[in-house]
Amino acid sequence: MRIVLVGPPGAGKGTQAAYLAKNLVIPHISTGDLFRANISQGTDLGKQAKAFMDAGELVPDEVTIGMARDRMNQPDAAGGFLLDGFPRNVSQAEALDEALKEDGVTLDAVLDLEVPEEEVVKRIAGRRICRNDSSHVFHVSYSAPKQQGVCDVCGGELYQRDDDSEETVRKRLEVYHTQTEPIIDYYKAQDLVVTIPALGKVEEVTERAMAALQGGE
Ligand code: AP5
Ligand code: MG
Repeated sequence: MRIVLVGPPGAGKGTQAAYLAKNLVIPHISTGDLFRANISQGTDLGKQAKAFMDAGELVPDEVTIGMARDRMNQPDAAGGFLLDGFPRNVSQAEALDEALKEDGVTLDAVLDLEVPEEEVVKRIAGRRICRNDSSHVFHVSYSAPKQQGVCDVCGGELYQRDDDSEETVRKRLEVYHTQTEPIIDYYKAQDLVVTIPALGKVEEVTERAMAALQGGE
């Protein structure tokens, strides 16, 4: 399956993607995680992305689209993938359509996670992620690690993301509404959007998402 996951910052895209990718046996491709990996490795791409991320702005399309395409062209993504955080504006969605067309494949669904704004603010405020791998995600009260400050998955140190400050979160939400939400209409025109409420326990949301995806809606 080829799936796009969409939803505001803190909606639980990364959290759900980990379970959905495992259930569906497809790679989880998060452009945010790819940027953070580049930043921690000190690459040129990471240096280009960091200032935009810290400001809560989108990294320019010239950088992002190439990086996403390179990842999608890896052998493990040949049979499908779960995109998390890409596309994030209409021109990225158009570039993705173009790339899929060249490969002779199509998207199966765009899964839209719906969460009220006050809840995303709480989720982001308590989020802690792993230094070794930013796809290892915890929350101080909703999904606490067994040992405070230590990743359950790999033992890495947990920390708060640089862009999770209150001011940057406000900016990220604004960018989401103005630049990312329009892709929902773009994909509605292709009859691909499945919207699910993303409140409730993590596993309840996963069940809802799996049912929606398997329902072929
Ligand atoms: P990115 O890393 O994609 O951040 P985001 O979209 O802002 O989303 P988040 O990762 O903050 O939230 P999430 O929905 O994954 O939530 P999570 O599962 O962690 O992007 C960061 C930056 O990179 C962007 O601002 C931009 O600069 C750049 N970028 C990335 N992609 C780009 C692109 N395509 N183009 C241009 N720039 C790009 O969950 C949040 C918290 O809630 C966690 O603590 C979790 O444990 C908890 N939680 C999750 N589910 C539940 C639940 N059901 N109940 C209770 N708690 C829950
Ligand atoms: Mg994420």
